[in-house]
Amino acid sequence: MTTQNRNTLLNGFCLVVGFLAVMRFMTVPANSTEGELRENPCPHTPSASIQGVPCSAVLAAAEVYDRKVRPILQVKCYDCHGVVARLPLYSKIPPVKGMVEDDIRHAKKEFNMSAGFPFMAEKDFLDDLHELREVLEEDRMPPRNYKAMHWKSGLTTEEKKIVMAWAKNIENALKATRVLPPASE
Ligand code: HEC
Repeated sequence: MTTQNRNTLLNGFCLVVGFLAVMRFMTVPANSTEGELRENPCPHTPSASIQGVPCSAVLAAAEVYDRKVRPILQVKCYDCHGVVARLPLYSKIPPVKGMVEDDIRHAKKEFNMSAGFPFMAEKDFLDDLHELREVLEEDRMPPRNYKAMHWKSGLTTEEKKIVMAWAKNIENALKATRVLPPASE
């Protein structure tokens, strides 16, 4: 390879890296339809219950979620699993646009954090807590291609500890309060 060829290649490479580095900081307003806001299914009456778990316990868990866990997940996960005001500019450029929209649709179907806790993606809302712990333990979320564009989007060890401890405590505590209906014959 001649020096000139090598320089051209190097310049091209720098251009691409520079372009990506700038792109990921530029954002555009997100469509409100991407939010899919959902009512909290637990009514604010302590005597009611959700899937056999008293609402008083669910609301106490949601309060800790909003205070300690949500601020972490909001930054690292809500681009795909929740409601955000802005999305990266690159997410509007075809064909990336289609891929990102597919990802978001898929992500919200699997796991929707839009309305906070309970997430209500699974049939059993306590299974969501288990799944949340599992993806963090196995470093499966955020997805690798997203982390490539957003270098600091992975959870720090400290953040992981906070989220996982909350999920584990809440899963155990809520399971203990659950009153299952008698099995029908
Ligand atoms: C770039 C988009 C994106 C981001 C950011 C993202 N996710 Fe996901 N997530 C997905 C998609 C797509 C799926 C469904 C397909 C799959 O499981 O890979 C998913 C699935 C999940 C599931 C369901 C588990 C499963 O195996 O299907 C959980 C739990 C989850 N994500 C948690 C998180 C958490 C926690 C974060 C932040 C730390 C996060 N995700 C960040 C796109 C994303």
